[in-house]
Amino acid sequence: MSTPAKHPLDLLTEAELTLASSILKIQKNLGKYHRFPLLQLNEPSKQAIAAFEQSGTACPREAFAVILDKSTGDTFEAIVNLETQSICSWEQLDTDKNGQAPLMIEEFDDLVKIVQEDSYWIAAVKKRGLTDEDIQNIQIDPWSFGHWGDDEKYKGRRLMRGVAFYRKKLTDNGYAHPLEGLVAIVDINERKVIELIDDGTHIPIPQAELNYDTPSLGQPRQDLKPLHIVQPEGVSFTVDDNWKVSWQNWEFRVGFTPREGLVIHQLGYNDKGKVRPIIYRASVTDMGVPYSDDVANHYWKCAFDGGEYGLGRLANQLELGCDWLGALRYFDIPSCDDFCKTFVMKNAICMHEEDYGTMWKHYEFRTGVFEVRRSRRLVISFFCTVANYDYGFYWYLYQDGTIQLEAKLTGIIQTSAITPGQTPNGGKVTPEIYGPTHQHFFSARLHMQVDGDHNSVTETEALPLPMDEHNVRGNLFKTVSQTFKNELEACREANGATGRFWKIINPNVKNHVGNHPGYKLVAEHNPIILAHPNSSIGRRAGFAQKHLWVTPYAEKERYGSGEYPNQNYGDGLPVWVQQNRPIENTDLVVWHTFGHTHICKPEDFPVMPVQYVGFKLQPNNFFELNPAMDLPAGKDHASVQDGASHCCHKNT
Ligand code: CU
Repeated sequence: MSTPAKHPLDLLTEAELTLASSILKIQKNLGKYHRFPLLQLNEPSKQAIAAFEQSGTACPREAFAVILDKSTGDTFEAIVNLETQSICSWEQLDTDKNGQAPLMIEEFDDLVKIVQEDSYWIAAVKKRGLTDEDIQNIQIDPWSFGHWGDDEKYKGRRLMRGVAFYRKKLTDNGYAHPLEGLVAIVDINERKVIELIDDGTHIPIPQAELNYDTPSLGQPRQDLKPLHIVQPEGVSFTVDDNWKVSWQNWEFRVGFTPREGLVIHQLGYNDKGKVRPIIYRASVTDMGVPYSDDVANHYWKCAFDGGEYGLGRLANQLELGCDWLGALRYFDIPSCDDFCKTFVMKNAICMHEEDYGTMWKHYEFRTGVFEVRRSRRLVISFFCTVANYDYGFYWYLYQDGTIQLEAKLTGIIQTSAITPGQTPNGGKVTPEIYGPTHQHFFSARLHMQVDGDHNSVTETEALPLPMDEHNVRGNLFKTVSQTFKNELEACREANGATGRFWKIINPNVKNHVGNHPGYKLVAEHNPIILAHPNSSIGRRAGFAQKHLWVTPYAEKERYGSGEYPNQNYGDGLPVWVQQNRPIENTDLVVWHTFGHTHICKPEDFPVMPVQYVGFKLQPNNFFELNPAMDLPAGKDHASVQDGASHCCHKNT
């Protein structure tokens, strides 16, 4: 069992998860048809946590739960007080309006059984040349349904879709053998296929095997020598009270939710003995993956891997080791399944330090003074697998005050068989298959707290000046800045041509040069959604229409795509900002959309090399001079081998 909670932000322990579910089961008479698509800590308010930290005021432990009755489809939200063992709130959702609860692992398994037993589906598969024996090996991917109008046949139902891939044996890479033009729509509560989409084209199933398991890959390359990373004196970070991390002046608490996975709480920097707050809570709240293809297998696809599937729920348990070579610290996550049976997600979060090349350097050629300092970063990360794709989420903290989030996109692309004579809506990866063009959008939520609770967001751009009597040589350009006053002003897109950037500042404080301390959001990967804003997908992934959104903190606005994107018409940021609330000098949340437009190519297959996307937050007028000037000089002699030392410049 996990150790008892010591801080109000500590994850619910296994004992607390069990207690929460039994309170609900007993007091609400929950039976064999009830499930728990979500059960997690109900995070206390910032004020309640401050009272706990400053004066030890008790902060009640609460659980937030979503409960689904599989026999009726009725869905409830509940908050349970674990100390008084009472239900503080219990509300039924209007699932046609609010959306459906996230999909459950049980339903992924159910979907496969339901589709495989459907006689019409079996007939359609046989028309594609497969036998009863083949059907046992067919892979069926569980897909969210989307939102396709208020058609009576879909109303009030909890729906999923199944897409099929042929495998000769179970360990084959099914994505090399898609069954084209065949999608089963399943009522997952009623447990039946309610509609079978068969476009009747019966394109032959691609046959070439493209497996990636070690035995299939054959002889690996032979010319790699060992590379060891050692920390003979141990790591430089400490972990206190289960979840609190300190490293190189940084302090934060580790959190984790089924939807978001890793959450960074209360991130601050100890600047000359005083911990200065920067971000109160940071996470990736969802990701949307819209597809640009009009064939039956793809036109409806826009997975919300956070809100529909759960980035945290599908986290990998890294028992075999994280992808890092040196000293590691893992965090285990107390979890529970759809029935509220608890388990520990072993080693779900991995933390380590990494060398990151040069932090700063100068060689003064006149005097021979040569100074260089190496950079080190703290890495805290997790990986999850959402059906075909694998996503790594890596938060980095640097010694110069930089914060970075990097998402690693890998795994296997969605595939389609090429119809002879047809131009596919995507890139060919083999002569038989193509990957439909699609986009990946991540919605990061940054509840900012730069030097205090009241912040503002500014935008700065560099603009050319006319060549006239004020700019005789034509070399001058100007920088213009504005402070966003309300939400609609702050719905912004990146613009590389003007170097547009956004800064989160504390307008109530000035630094030693008369500026407000701030952090600059460095937006680095900036596609926007190309589905029409009025389309089903464009509405539902509306957070991807802008790179920046700023909202005043509101308890219920937790996820960029809204609370329940599953079968939702469209919710979240584009809806909330219509309130056009003031956002100047207030408790605010900065939302950053970043992503990747993926035009597939042969190098993406059979498993694509990692595509990196993300953003940085860099101190801007926050520190007095470069905070990394105090890094120790000198090189690590243990890592310099004979014959390699000459690559380092003469060091005095
Ligand atoms: Cu992709």
